[in-house]
Amino acid sequence: MFEAIDHIGIAVSDLDQAVAFYRDNLDMAETYRETVSDLGVEAVLLEVGDSHVELLCPLSDDNGVARFLEKRGEGLHHVAYRTADIDEALEKARATGLRLIDEQPRTGIRKSRVAFLHPEATGGVLTEFVEPAH
Ligand code: CO
Repeated sequence: MFEAIDHIGIAVSDLDQAVAFYRDNLDMAETYRETVSDLGVEAVLLEVGDSHVELLCPLSDDNGVARFLEKRGEGLHHVAYRTADIDEALEKARATGLRLIDEQPRTGIRKSRVAFLHPEATGGVLTEFVEPAH
């Protein structure tokens, strides 16, 4: 069902500081930056081979990433699996009875289609499905 770990999401409270940290300490360059209005965040992708680290910084106080930071502080936020058919992956998850956050895919970074499962359904790990834009 999945082709790769597309990215891992990391919640940060200061995007430029985080970008500088990864650049200066781990030699990971910013390859892409976008405001993802559906998620209420500004996101930066750092390249790691065929995968990415996705740094997420909330643009307001009333979204999931902002609430995550308030409750748990900066750190690992979600893992994202790449699929060629997100509708099928989501339907399988629904048929299995997994609790979904997104009943339908929404628009993610770089015009991808994304959907999140509820962390209560997946052992406390917020899980994202990603179908890259073609
Ligand atoms: Co993500």
